[in-house]
Amino acid sequence: MFFWLNTSLPYLEELYKIMSYLAYKHLHTSFATLSIIFFIIRAYWSVLERGCLQNTFVRVAPHIIDTLFLLSGLAMAFTIGFNHPWLIAKIIGLIAYIYAGIYAIRRGRTPQIRLLSAVIAVLIYVYIVGIALNKSVLSFFA
Ligand code: HEM
Repeated sequence: MFFWLNTSLPYLEELYKIMSYLAYKHLHTSFATLSIIFFIIRAYWSVLERGCLQNTFVRVAPHIIDTLFLLSGLAMAFTIGFNHPWLIAKIIGLIAYIYAGIYAIRRGRTPQIRLLSAVIAVLIYVYIVGIALNKSVLSFFA
């Protein structure tokens, strides 16, 4: 088979941008998955008051995952610009997810409050996935 490769600089720069964007998107979705898995496990331990939450790995890993998750999202956001309502909704949603998560893991005083906060955090997460897939603030209802 014969391939014709365009090696002009603007074309290669454009290709590089598209490939970086796809790499960030791949990282972002992978970290999004790891983030919710880790969150559900930690919330489960928190509601049941298990000591595993004090483990250094369990305490540090989610912060690393969530930082890389946010950075990969921001890298794409800077490429496409922030003037998209769905993107702003995602950022606000992420803050709400983190806030509900803090109550689910640490701040909630009773197991009931921690369970309710965990359910709210998961619902916010699902809403954000809907925003991401449909590129609409209406999420899965778009
Ligand atoms: C809990 C929070 C988040 C979740 C669950 C999430 C999830 C996702 C998913 C699943 C995709 C892939 C969508 C597709 O396949 O087309 C995606 C794409 C994307 N996300 Fe997020 N995201 C979150 C937060 C953020 C934040 C905070 C930002 C910005 C700072 C962001 C920026 C983006 C961008 C720019 C894309 C690429 C859109 C495209 O070009 O297709 N995300 N996100």
